[in-house]
Amino acid sequence: MIGKLNHIGVATPSIDESVKLYRDVLGATSITDKWAMPEQGVWVCFVNLPNSQIELIEPYGDASPLTGFLAKNPAGGQHHVCFEVEDIIAARDDMRAKGATILGTGEPRIGAHGTPVIFVHPKNMGGVLVELMETPKGAAH
Ligand code: CO
Repeated sequence: MIGKLNHIGVATPSIDESVKLYRDVLGATSITDKWAMPEQGVWVCFVNLPNSQIELIEPYGDASPLTGFLAKNPAGGQHHVCFEVEDIIAARDDMRAKGATILGTGEPRIGAHGTPVIFVHPKNMGGVLVELMETPKGAAH
């Protein structure tokens, strides 16, 4: 059911500091500007790699879902993996039918790529928070 690995989400207390790591230490040459997603409670930016992306996410506002994660991991760390699916509703219903818990209301929200996403509880995914994202229509990636 899952398609491409779209990105790996990495939580950080500071996107600006993390960008220095990916750009200056690892040598990434294509990194987007950061932007705010207030409804998700995050700042976000993407490090573009030849075959995938790293999504850097930093808390935005007091009610950010990243606050607890960064309390446990003050330096930041790997937060989630994101796989593409063709149809987000079909994927959600299939996951539920298999006993998985969808986070939040269970209704897809628009993610950082402008397509609907859901998150599957890590307790059902071997400890990994899994984001499923509908493949952008007509997009190569
Ligand atoms: Co993500």
